[in-house]
Amino acid sequence: MITGRSLANLSLVGFMGAGKSTVGRYVAGRLRYRFVDTDTLIEQRTGRKIQEIFATGGEAEFRAIEHELTGETAQWKRTVIATGGGLITFDNNLDLLRKASFVICLWASTDTIYRRVRGNRNRPLLQTEDLRGTIDRMLKARAEFYKRSDLIVNTDNRSLRMVVQQVLRQYRKAFADSRAAAK
Ligand code: S3P
Repeated sequence: MITGRSLANLSLVGFMGAGKSTVGRYVAGRLRYRFVDTDTLIEQRTGRKIQEIFATGGEAEFRAIEHELTGETAQWKRTVIATGGGLITFDNNLDLLRKASFVICLWASTDTIYRRVRGNRNRPLLQTEDLRGTIDRMLKARAEFYKRSDLIVNTDNRSLRMVVQQVLRQYRKAFADSRAAAK
């Protein structure tokens, strides 16, 4: 059980193509929370597409913007936050998120991710000849970070509906438990 921490928000983390934005939008609707996708918010604030930031300022600039935004989430309430796939693998971002979020990782295997992202050309880190190999390498390198989440939900062979239900159930339980423990 999580105690001594605000779970006012729900953050979804996990690899590109894990379903964070799609699941997050549904979950936010059910909870009547605001929905924020960190990539979209970064694009809105900077007036630049993620690809553009990577192309001009490099990944370092993107990570700096992402880090600043992550720090802000500690002040948010009733928000479902879909994070960029690399967010918790940099700096102390996971600790910052945890200040006011229950952090759920949506897990998917290399094969599942490959199937989900192969038609999509928007992700700067996946513009590679060997897409499957790149996903496999990055997923292995990042797994230790994703495992530090409060909870992992496997999305392999699960429908969107099932994942949404699972995420909702787990968040509601963690939220209720932390409230009860605070009394
Ligand atoms: C990234 C994931 C992307 C985006 C950027 C970097 C990553 O977000 O933040 O391209 O390092 O995994 P999605 O996970 O929403 O695709």
